[in-house]
Amino acid sequence: MRHLLGCRDLSYDDALAILDLAEQMQQVQFRQVKKLPALRGRTIVNAFFEDSTRTRTSFEIAGKWLSADTINVSARGSSVSKGESLRDTMLTLDAMGVDAFVIRHPSSGAAAQVAGWVGAHIINAGDGQHEHPTQALLDAYSMRKHWRETGQGGFEGKRVAIVGDLLHSRVVRSNVYLLQTLGATPVLVAPATLLPAGVDTWGVEITTDFDEVLEGLDIAMMLRVQRERMAGGFFPTPREYSDAYGLTFERLSRLKQGAAICHPGPMNRGVEISSAAADAVNSLVLDQVASGVAVRMSVLYTLLGSEEGIRL
Ligand code: NCD
Repeated sequence: MRHLLGCRDLSYDDALAILDLAEQMQQVQFRQVKKLPALRGRTIVNAFFEDSTRTRTSFEIAGKWLSADTINVSARGSSVSKGESLRDTMLTLDAMGVDAFVIRHPSSGAAAQVAGWVGAHIINAGDGQHEHPTQALLDAYSMRKHWRETGQGGFEGKRVAIVGDLLHSRVVRSNVYLLQTLGATPVLVAPATLLPAGVDTWGVEITTDFDEVLEGLDIAMMLRVQRERMAGGFFPTPREYSDAYGLTFERLSRLKQGAAICHPGPMNRGVEISSAAADAVNSLVLDQVASGVAVRMSVLYTLLGSEEGIRL
């Protein structure tokens, strides 16, 4: 695998190999000395042209634990704010001998575009409303772990609802592709105004009524209402949104035994998710964050690692 641009073209075998390797990588997290020599001498640049806390930090930690040199570049504080084009910025960084770029950009398709310009490996860390493949991989990792720990088997036949602002989300696309590849059933839940155009061609279940599907779910994945991307009124008020689409205290109690809650973060508590749900025993939110580092280590190693194998 040369780049990780999306989950759409990720094969079943590649996806599974990333998840399995992440399991080995996660062992590093529990060690006192969190360092593997696997990517020593490699240089990874996190080029973030959009705000991020967890994704950027998680990639940086993942690179560091694999002994790579990781450097962060953000739009603010770089020549982008002086009007330099994305192409010139990326070619400039590439010319310094970078081995991989982790890119976040507000434009859909930006990561694929950069892959055509530079020689380095590209990992898409979120491009506009398109894809965010490592998020879907870490979600899958967390879900798989939860199902194993609770004796519920694998992905086959599992109903995973992705609920909320699907229109502005890149997490939903990556999750739909990956869940379908792994054999689970994605169920999309959103008000009609927040459903992406062409969603009926994705081959998934779609409903505007959360309550109708709630009790049969294995996972309720709540997505953030992305107000920074909204130009107009997509729903009446946050209160009404929460009443219809939030994982409220009342809905939490109606989830079936063994069902779990996911959220990629950052959360709007009281809007798409109540504090009761975010902090519930069956909430995987912090486990998702922990898994994120292991999954990103796995992805970095898969793209950049030597043939010698890893010494854990
Ligand atoms: C998501 C993103 O930026 O796409 N967050 C994340 O990466 N953990 C979702 C969001 O911003 O709501």
